[in-house]
Amino acid sequence: MRIYQEADYAAMSRRCANLISAEVIRKPDCVLGLATGSTPVGIYHQLAEWNRKGDLSFWDVITVNLDEYRGLAPTHTQSYRDFMQKNLFDHIDIRQENTYVPNGMAQDPEEECSRYDSMLRALGGTDLQLLGLGRNGHIGFNEPGPAFIKETHVVELSQSTIEANARFFESADEVPRQAITMGIGCIMEARRVLVAVSGEDKAEAVYRSFCGPITPEVPGSILQLHGDVVLVGDRAALSRLP
Ligand code: F6R
Repeated sequence: MRIYQEADYAAMSRRCANLISAEVIRKPDCVLGLATGSTPVGIYHQLAEWNRKGDLSFWDVITVNLDEYRGLAPTHTQSYRDFMQKNLFDHIDIRQENTYVPNGMAQDPEEECSRYDSMLRALGGTDLQLLGLGRNGHIGFNEPGPAFIKETHVVELSQSTIEANARFFESADEVPRQAITMGIGCIMEARRVLVAVSGEDKAEAVYRSFCGPITPEVPGSILQLHGDVVLVGDRAALSRLP
């Protein structure tokens, strides 16, 4: 595993944007696995700036997002589709039809999960998967539990995730209770995984994911078995690493 320790959030974001842009330059039609949440916002803004300046093009890039809330329409201001549009897709030259986010409104969620897996397989998997890390060690919406789930699936969000995400809603009551998430298998099949972390409240999850036992109780710990993980964090988030 390669670790980049950066001074702060801005430097962490720039480093991750650099690594992503290197992938896009190396392979202009690469498949990027993308995440939402607070952590990648700075990364996306940096990528959008380079795109605006003409230094980077996403014209042939395909993106596949990790997850989506169940029950939120793509136009809902808290849906992950809307997040991606506002923070990245609307500001870069990507073709809309090349951006994939699970459909949280699918009538048959199980069918939507297998459709997403088939689509991922047809694309040949992701070249680079960007991940944030939940405070409980979740990746995507793979929450701590008794087993790693390989395929895309419907999850019940844990109380800690509902509380953490309540900041984006009027109240915790409005946070959807379920989501569709790529499974651990899809994430582990990425050719490279880029984990972005920032802030002291991630330090424990970083420590447990990368230094603790590999267990589904800490979903991020599975990344210890991936051959090409790059961890980029600010000092606070990496403060517990030996
Ligand atoms: C979002 C996702 C989540 C977040 C994680 C960290 O698509 O997959 O696993 O990466 O909850 O979220 P932030 O960055 O808001 O701390």
